[in-house]
Amino acid sequence: MTALLVDRIGLLVRNVDDDGLPDELPDAAVVVEDGRIAWLGPAAQAPDADERIDAEGRCVIPGFVDSHTHLVFAGDRSAEFEARMAGRPYTAGGIRTTVAATRAASDDALLARAAALVAEARRQGTTTIEIKSGYGLTVEDEARALRLASTLTPETTLLGAHVVPPEYADDPDGYVDLVTGPMLAACAPYAKWIDVFCDRGAFTLEQAERILVAGRDAGLGLRLHAAQLGPSPAVRMGVALGAASVDHCTHLEPEDIDALSGSDTVATLLPGAEFSTRSPYPDARRLLDAGVTVALATDCNPGSSFTTSMPFCIALAVREMGMTPREALRAATAGGAAALRRDDVGVLRVGARADLALIDAPSYVHLAYRPGVPLVAPLTASPGG
Ligand code: NIG
Ligand code: FE
Repeated sequence: MTALLVDRIGLLVRNVDDDGLPDELPDAAVVVEDGRIAWLGPAAQAPDADERIDAEGRCVIPGFVDSHTHLVFAGDRSAEFEARMAGRPYTAGGIRTTVAATRAASDDALLARAAALVAEARRQGTTTIEIKSGYGLTVEDEARALRLASTLTPETTLLGAHVVPPEYADDPDGYVDLVTGPMLAACAPYAKWIDVFCDRGAFTLEQAERILVAGRDAGLGLRLHAAQLGPSPAVRMGVALGAASVDHCTHLEPEDIDALSGSDTVATLLPGAEFSTRSPYPDARRLLDAGVTVALATDCNPGSSFTTSMPFCIALAVREMGMTPREALRAATAGGAAALRRDDVGVLRVGARADLALIDAPSYVHLAYRPGVPLVAPLTASPGG
């Protein structure tokens, strides 16, 4: 087994301090063996290793955990974006454009596109990624999307309830029967999670609850798109059902914050969606001050947020959402890990996965201070999610 020493780290950010070492360790080193952290501590005390990388005083962080993406799709919606920038509002209905293109695409084309987006994310420091289905909306097309996604990451999510497809326009409850019955059965072998878009133009609270309960009964973990387009009791429903994460949380009522703060449900904020739909950003400060665990994710999808860049989301969170650079970094790493109920990623401690990302700067503040600049690169990320 080869040991790799990452030496002369100017600042090591760990997201943990219960092992006798500080959360942020200056002048640090890390030893990696077999994809795991075997040792970390002051560089002056670093043991010998077979190979050595010199970080030359730069900052090392846990790789980003992007806990919310929709990467299995075909087609292009740049014209919709352009129209939106000229004043047209975002609606859930645009999803159907991508559904038509995705159904018409070959397996090879879908996988190549998704793999290219995963590679694009990885180049920007993402080392764990969740991928949802949701642009097939038939039993076969949703199962296909999840089968393809599961070759790229273990964090796969059935989002058969993204919108009601056109062929069920007159019978939305019939579509919910399909999702909770044959679709769930065909997709469960490839899915770890189930999700529902519960919002205006998508699924009602009652429909969303039926789908989540069916998913839970089939052994899947729960996630939810809620309160993106307007306030909704869906956030509280997600908490009550024990969802790992409620995502978007753009329009929160005080009762939603209370429910989240007393729970282990993570509030996942997706500022790329507010950026690309020109909407007001969620108030992260209110959530953090109430003690809610917050995650940041890209929501990468062709309609509302076509970015794979976690550093871009961090910059938005700091500039627009009241988060400090440290809070935003934590949300993009440990927060995402909590949203996926993972304790082996998003933190740097002995035994954790050695998913290190290198910032070409002395501190993580530069992630927001130098927006749009490709400062981050994966250092020792093992493949997969
Ligand atoms: O998370 N909100 C629902 N789904 C996506 C948008 C998908 C689309 O417009 O294609 C989202 O923003
Ligand atoms: Fe989404």
